[in-house]
Amino acid sequence: MNNEIGKILVPREVIAEKVRELGRRISEDYKDGDLILIGVLKGAFIFLADLMREITINVDMDFISVSSYANDTKSSGIVRIIKDVDINISNKHVLIVEDIVDTGLTLNHLKELFQTRGPKSVKICAIFDKPSRRKVDITVDYKGIEIPNEFVIGYGLDYQGRYRNLPDLCVLNQEIYKKE
Ligand code: IMP
Repeated sequence: MNNEIGKILVPREVIAEKVRELGRRISEDYKDGDLILIGVLKGAFIFLADLMREITINVDMDFISVSSYANDTKSSGIVRIIKDVDINISNKHVLIVEDIVDTGLTLNHLKELFQTRGPKSVKICAIFDKPSRRKVDITVDYKGIEIPNEFVIGYGLDYQGRYRNLPDLCVLNQEIYKKE
């Protein structure tokens, strides 16, 4: 397992401090209530759990699970809903919680989808951001840490289902990655 794990890009202490900061901002901005966090499975589950405990106002949560369509249609940004949210978001403030913004296609689609359901607002919070990979212009309202264009693992992010449990954000070993 270990030779797939490259250098630490963002140590756990730096992630924790950023999560605290985001939690403080969100608590202040939504102090009038009606906030629902919607985590995008699977990668966002660790971030959502940490973020929620840094929020000091009443807050509800749910998860959505999506998958991108095959390569030929991926550029359209259409994603398939595997598991939808169970709660009614009408008249609520929705904050989509994502692990990383890469091309931005997933979040772009999810934002449009939630906007059709009568919420008070829909905003985006992501702990990591790879701005150099962006294909659509989306606003990340609560942005964590910008990273370079590397394939990263840990803090919920996987490589073929592995390494979500690493507490630090690490780079996937390039040699292994290039062989795929
Ligand atoms: P987007 O639609 O291209 O922005 O896709 C974002 C999704 O791709 C994230 O939620 C991750 O699941 C996945 N992803 C993007 N970059 C990485 C990475 O470096 N490591 C692991 N997963 C990634």
